[in-house]
Amino acid sequence: MYVEPILFGDSSRRIALESTGVAPASLRAMEKIRTRTARVGVVGLGYVGLPLAVALGDAGFDVVGADLDQRKVDALREGRSPLECIEDSSIGALIDAGRLEVTTDAAHLGSPDIVLICVPTPLTGGEPDQSLVMEAAESLIPQIRPGTIVVLESTVIPDTTDRMLVPVLETSGLKAEVDFFVGFSPERVDPSSGLDVVDVPKLVSGIGPKSAALVEALYRNIVKTVVPASSPRVAEFTKLLENTFRDVNIALVNELAQVARDMGVDIWEAIDLAATKPYGYTPFYPGPGVGGHCIPVDPVYLAWRAEVAGKPLTMLQDARRVNDSMPGFVVDRVAGLFDGELTGKKIVVLGAAFKKDIEDARNSASVDVMDLFVERGADLSFHDPYCPSVKVGGRMLVSVADLVTELESADCVVICTDHSSYVWDEVLEHSRLIFDTRNVLASYASAEGKVQKL
Ligand SMILES: NC(=O)c1ccc[n+]([C@@H]2O[C@H](COP(=O)([O-])OP(=O)(O)OC[C@H]3O[C@@H](n4cnc5c(N)ncnc54)[C@H](O)[C@@H]3O)[C@@H](O)[C@H]2O)c1
Repeated sequence: MYVEPILFGDSSRRIALESTGVAPASLRAMEKIRTRTARVGVVGLGYVGLPLAVALGDAGFDVVGADLDQRKVDALREGRSPLECIEDSSIGALIDAGRLEVTTDAAHLGSPDIVLICVPTPLTGGEPDQSLVMEAAESLIPQIRPGTIVVLESTVIPDTTDRMLVPVLETSGLKAEVDFFVGFSPERVDPSSGLDVVDVPKLVSGIGPKSAALVEALYRNIVKTVVPASSPRVAEFTKLLENTFRDVNIALVNELAQVARDMGVDIWEAIDLAATKPYGYTPFYPGPGVGGHCIPVDPVYLAWRAEVAGKPLTMLQDARRVNDSMPGFVVDRVAGLFDGELTGKKIVVLGAAFKKDIEDARNSASVDVMDLFVERGADLSFHDPYCPSVKVGGRMLVSVADLVTELESADCVVICTDHSSYVWDEVLEHSRLIFDTRNVLASYASAEGKVQKL
């Protein structure tokens, strides 16, 4: 896809300045973006960084990526994608064309013209941990040159770009917004949605007008829609708002799911009925909990910042508590099918990833469910076509190879992650009893009498 890049101001002025050889840093940087001759460094080649690196490489930029994970770097060098959502052929083509290089050390990016920081921002001890962003920023200090553009993509506490990133980068001796440029552009990629990075509207922001124009121009090369925010702080806040919205709404239906059945109501039917209202309602669905790198984490970032400002966000905290209670609710419901006793019961969990069609089991509610089954003495196994092994009850558990045999010997099969590759007819045929946390079996007539749901 070709997207016409925007020019920075009046092109005759640009040409005149260039001919004097004194074009300011911002103008030279804009020209490199316009002509796609900028060399782009990407720090962190995960779910966010790698698709961006590929999109930039496909758009004609030379990209150098850094990731601490030696295995990931080795795979990329061999033209293999470490992610399900990126084809090997996309990586191979860029490596062969010399448009993608990879290294294990961000200090060895070689002073690229543009750097995107895409490192994790997890919780450590239940608190926001931005140390990897700061480490990445420190590794860039000696590489900052007049005209360098640094864009933070990682999800962060509002004010991080202005108050933490810029001061670290300015220890280079250069001045932000004068000599080099800084922006924040949150990632909204959804690895299992099928939406490509180019299709998702991209929020962009800069610490000043020059940074804002440069960051906007950069992303116009790779995404169809660019949405400018007035400051990094607003963009940082907006990213947290989006994921908090999701977490709170999922918590609402999860809490309702915990009482609907006792009221004789099928929660999914109620949600589908409510969704026929043409305004003021957005459907969210219950499940075994909320996992992944973003939804359970980002509200904590927002709540932490609000707490510092002296205003605890109690609704967010309640939502987190409800969503965190779901694995226990699921296990209690399954135990209820065996008079409350799970010891020795053979339980097979389907799906370990935190959502369908990906290999990512980070913070997966399905793994929390499995931990609880083990704690309660169940004889547990799991199957996941994408996750070969996960840590359960302190030890690595390997996905079963022969699913049919496993289903046939199970006292109960618990559907936690509804990967599209599961053939539900087959699961139904070979199982005696199923607990369905995703409502995937609702339309199967043969489910009658065999399936319990959340
Ligand atoms: N995964 C998503 O769907 C998603 C969506 C939107 C936003 N985000 C946010 O984007 C950021 C990155 O998330 P992700 O899912 O891509 O993480 P990830 O774990 O998939 O990838 C991050 C990569 O960074 C590497 N890394 C860590 N520190 C490094 C360093 N100093 N130098 C070089 N490499 C380093 C890690 O080895 C890892 O491969 C986080 O802030 C996350 O909250 C993620």
